[in-house]
Amino acid sequence: MNAGRWRGLGALLMALAIATAASRAIGAEAPAPYRMPPPGQALFDHLHNKIVHFPLVLTLVATAALLRARRRPEFEPVAFWLVWVTALSALAAYFSGQAQAGDFEPGPKEWLVDLHRRQGIAIGVGQALWVLSLLRERTRRYAWLLGLILSVMVLAAGFLGGLVAHGE
Ligand code: HEM
Repeated sequence: MNAGRWRGLGALLMALAIATAASRAIGAEAPAPYRMPPPGQALFDHLHNKIVHFPLVLTLVATAALLRARRRPEFEPVAFWLVWVTALSALAAYFSGQAQAGDFEPGPKEWLVDLHRRQGIAIGVGQALWVLSLLRERTRRYAWLLGLILSVMVLAAGFLGGLVAHGE
């Protein structure tokens, strides 16, 4: 084959490749719109990702209530029940987190999930002490301090949890 024919064949192949790519681009369909899953699935799928909002926000709110109760004793019952509800929500976060941990094991984020699990355990112990601290007169006056420490701990757990869920 002479050089002219080779050039012709090259041009033909090039045109064929361009035509194929163009037809694919035109034929490519936009992704279908999101369809709502059944309510049960929507509520309970990835439960941990939903529940964690409670211990995060409630720890901050209960701590604020305890700080307020130092000057205004009428806030004490509110703070007391807020701490209880917070501890229960942390328990729910713990078990729902354990249930989802398997999705990352084995995997590149296994070590991060382990670290995050330890945060969850430390928070669980801290929350139990927080509740107990309110049951005795002697320790009740330090509950606000425990609240501040736990606030930092849940925020740190939220940060690592976010990396587990979305870190790339
Ligand atoms: C009170 C304690 C805990 C808090 C405050 C917490 C907080 C969080 C947060 C904020 C996220 C990100 C959620 C999102 O972006 O949608 C997350 C994800 C996650 N956490 Fe926790 N967590 C706690 C305990 C635990 C425990 C004990 C485990 C057990 C290993 C765990 C396992 C996970 C897993 C596997 C994910 C990723 C879920 C996914 O997106 O599939 N967490 N956590």
